[in-house]
Amino acid sequence: MEREFDRVVDAEQRIEPRDWMPDGYRKTLIRQIAQHAHSEIIGMQPEANWISRAPSLRRKAILLAKVQDEAGHGLYLYAATETLGADREDLTTKLIEGRQKYSSIFNYPTLNFADVGVIGWLVDGAAIVNQVPLCRTSYGPYARAMIRICKEESFHQRQGFELLMTMMRGTDAQRRMVQDSVDRWWWPSLMMFGPPDEKSANTEQSMAWRIKRHTNDELRQKFVDMTVPQARALGVTLPDPDLRWNDDRGHHDFGELDWEEFWQVVGGDGPCNRQRVAHRRAAHENGAWVRDAAAAYAARRAGSDAE
Ligand code: 3HC
Repeated sequence: MEREFDRVVDAEQRIEPRDWMPDGYRKTLIRQIAQHAHSEIIGMQPEANWISRAPSLRRKAILLAKVQDEAGHGLYLYAATETLGADREDLTTKLIEGRQKYSSIFNYPTLNFADVGVIGWLVDGAAIVNQVPLCRTSYGPYARAMIRICKEESFHQRQGFELLMTMMRGTDAQRRMVQDSVDRWWWPSLMMFGPPDEKSANTEQSMAWRIKRHTNDELRQKFVDMTVPQARALGVTLPDPDLRWNDDRGHHDFGELDWEEFWQVVGGDGPCNRQRVAHRRAAHENGAWVRDAAAAYAARRAGSDAE
């Protein structure tokens, strides 16, 4: 069975829910996909904060659609974990109790509407760089969920860039808002790709199982190289004095990330961690009656169908 598993993975084919798989493969998939789903759901909070204060009906409609998409991404991904035998209620409990993670990026505050644009441009831009390769991940349900998610992410990134371009063509005050927002979100966006490869506990095995298709540092580098010309087109500067093109490498060199900040935020001590988890806990508790009613209705329907 293990030989068949290895043959399918090495042949770039898909492992499906009914196939035999090593316990470790199942375990790390549940870990990564659950935390990806948690990130999508928690990621609704920073931007939802601005839906009622959007500067126009058009911006409100775009932001509503984006936040709604994130909820759908979470649902696709929780559904993918259930094909591995995970229980959604258990995963939500683990998130609320801090026993599972979500992306560090969502623990930073959104201080003004320029942040909505920068999150679309940088955070969703980073998400796209990280998620497009996952369309080729070896586990079938995850790969298929990512294909739909990536299509919607490209709308998220484009609307953010267009919002910023509009502000950059506005007043000096708006240009200053955008630059301040870029200064606050640039480094946390680079942290989304995870720790340096040599500090990554999971990369080697995930690459061997073709769950991950590139390493953390490879994707981070790809994101930096892609974003520099976009920043130039926008007319903003990226807050890194060491950022420069390196002809020999064919990539941009960039400064060292603050890994102490990274591990602090991942460990629960970021600017908004407590607020984000408390909000998620309250939503779960306040929604218990809806889940109970749906379960009671399903049980009654099943009962009447059996009669
Ligand atoms: N935030 C929080 N935790 C992080 C992290 C981050 N930015 N980067 C790494 N970690 C955690 C890992 O989960 C791991 O902890 P664990 O073993 O308890 O799970 C530990 O730090 C070491 O990191 P590794 O590199 O060894 O872990 P992975 O191999 O899992 O790589 C990852 C981390 C690159 C995030 C990978 O899990 C991944 O690609 N996940 C799928 C994509 C994803 O989750 N993206 C999150 C953002 S979702 C999003 O952007 C939504 C969009 O709409 C904005």
